[in-house]
Amino acid sequence: MPLPVLRPAPRDQASEPFATDVIAGLSATPKRLLPKYFYDEVGSQLFEDITQLPEYYPTRTELKILRENASAIAGLIPRDAALVEFGAGAATKAKILLEAAPQISAYVPVDISAQFLGGEAAKLERDIPRVAIYPVATDFTKPFELPVAVRGRPCVGFFPGSTIGNFEPHEATELLRIAAQILGPDALFIIGADLVKDRNVLHAAYNDAAGVTAKFNLNLLARINRELGADFNLAAFEHHACYNQERSRIEVYLASRKRQKVRLLGKTFEFRAGETIHTEYSYKFTLKSFSALARGAGWAPVAVYTDAEHYFSVHVLKQK
Ligand code: AVJ
Repeated sequence: MPLPVLRPAPRDQASEPFATDVIAGLSATPKRLLPKYFYDEVGSQLFEDITQLPEYYPTRTELKILRENASAIAGLIPRDAALVEFGAGAATKAKILLEAAPQISAYVPVDISAQFLGGEAAKLERDIPRVAIYPVATDFTKPFELPVAVRGRPCVGFFPGSTIGNFEPHEATELLRIAAQILGPDALFIIGADLVKDRNVLHAAYNDAAGVTAKFNLNLLARINRELGADFNLAAFEHHACYNQERSRIEVYLASRKRQKVRLLGKTFEFRAGETIHTEYSYKFTLKSFSALARGAGWAPVAVYTDAEHYFSVHVLKQK
């Protein structure tokens, strides 16, 4: 049975942010959509498929770093701590920490996708019965309250996967500041950050031969069709991803293959041939640039772990 999921903003009370954000993004010049909307049920599954691709090194590299350094990381975590994961998909990574650190007594997965959350949390509860699990279904880019059951406990934030790279530097700073507020003074924060590397390796990771990343990107249009009744013709758009070296980021777009119109909630959106919708940035960091970002948001670097090739990094931070 899935666990009860805490939803801080009940549906009937909240305005419908998906529709509002989609209309605003398609009305903007240049057009854009927010990457957090990739992760409906289909999109979350497609992302899981991406993590298994030979070209997509981040997930397996981060897992290796976490496994190899789990006891060192565990040594930094205080007694009776609560692990608060920002954007918990499959709980594979949290499980490594929970197993290495028996002093963690609660796990709070926070995710925008409530369905995925409930199922994964229930599985984890069976596997590690010692840990009490309190899932929270919310958009963690906005301030939220921790479940009453973990308030007052030492908190360890966990933000793996380099999801931090989806945010522009000013947004990432804001997010780290919000997290500091939520997690409270003395909190630790464990963050995965993808590293700058050979551009061919980066390019391949976002342009896989099997076309799963293209499918993941196009699913955003399919989701808009499903949930908002739009009439995007998926065959008339294509996936584009390229590395912008100057800005140290992968830029992901959907490009219109022809001049066309799309109808959505009583509005018409026109596309020129070749016109793009920006869907995602994936910033890449150096160990130095990431520490600087953390420091600027009130977090002091405590430890950093990386792999032999320096493909990925896991940072442990403490509130300043
Ligand atoms: C989940 C944001 C870390 O940026 O690599 C993977 C998402 N997009 N392939 C990333 C993603 C295209 C991923 N993050």
